[in-house]
Amino acid sequence: MKNVVLIGFMGCGKSTVGIRLSYRLRRVVEDTDRRIEREQGKSISEIFAEQGEAYFRELETDLLRRMKQEPGIRIIATGGGLPMRKENRRLLHELGQVIYLQLSPETVYERLKNDTSRPLLQGEDPLGKIQKLMSERAPVYEETADIVINVDGNDMEKTLQMIEAALAEREEQA
Ligand code: S3P
Repeated sequence: MKNVVLIGFMGCGKSTVGIRLSYRLRRVVEDTDRRIEREQGKSISEIFAEQGEAYFRELETDLLRRMKQEPGIRIIATGGGLPMRKENRRLLHELGQVIYLQLSPETVYERLKNDTSRPLLQGEDPLGKIQKLMSERAPVYEETADIVINVDGNDMEKTLQMIEAALAEREEQA
């Protein structure tokens, strides 16, 4: 068994699925955003506002490099923009099996319309921002993933069952 790495757009449920999966698979869960916040002593919004997005992207890559050296098999939930760097995609693959939680821009909008913690979606026309970012990112998520799970319309239980079934199938094939 390798690490299980969750990728996907903001609001697709990586953090929540990560926590639930950690109970089911009895493995520690690590969330890259939460760890960066802990290590920096600041929220993601504060890091974006004070140091800028480029600095945050460096923190993500630096964290992945360190995680690769760390022992133990974990569930790793990642920030939505993390797979956009080529080096990060390579590191994600070295870390484990990559699962993409796919969902539509409309569902993201519904889930995040009152959220203030995602700096990239603040301001005018959040749905337009989601659609634009999603169209740039979806092909990259797909290319990066070993397993794609469509979560639109699923409840949490269904999503967890689909992930477990996909992981079991890959175990059999290995
Ligand atoms: C980002 C997603 C966020 C967080 C930051 C940037 C992105 O994580 O890393 O706000 O570029 O999509 P979530 O996907 O957990 O919201």
